[in-house]
Amino acid sequence: MRIAFGSDHAGASLKAELLAYAQELGHEVSDFGGGEDGPVDYPVYAFAVAKAVARGEYDRGILICGTGLGMSIAANKVPGVRAALCHECYTARMSREHNDANILCLGQRVLGPGLAREVLRVFLSTPFSQGASHVRRLAMISAEEGAALR
Ligand code: RB5
Repeated sequence: MRIAFGSDHAGASLKAELLAYAQELGHEVSDFGGGEDGPVDYPVYAFAVAKAVARGEYDRGILICGTGLGMSIAANKVPGVRAALCHECYTARMSREHNDANILCLGQRVLGPGLAREVLRVFLSTPFSQGASHVRRLAMISAEEGAALR
């Protein structure tokens, strides 16, 4: 898969580690940057990655800040994005099976690198279930996004 990574200063070192891990897993990765040289504002990187995913240029996005909260709040403002904040594997799996999440948000100050790698691996390897009820609910979200723009 094509995966876009972004971070702020509080997520830059975990981003570097996970980017290398995603490459090891065989994915094509791009680094949208963020925070390598000091404090930056997370919305800049959240919007850049989220828009690239929404445009279909990437299959998934990974956004990392201190808690993952700012990244998830910002990314979910972009129509077509379903960003999931996951700090353990069950939620990561369900974010894919039930919610067809296309962006994973993580907090570098919340989880260690070993768990982060596992959460990433589960997020990247779990397919959407395609269940009718889940498809219907996601369509409701898409419809609301369209309505909100009018
Ligand atoms: C930066 O200190 C921190 O606020 C940011 O990385 C993030 O956790 C915000 O949600």
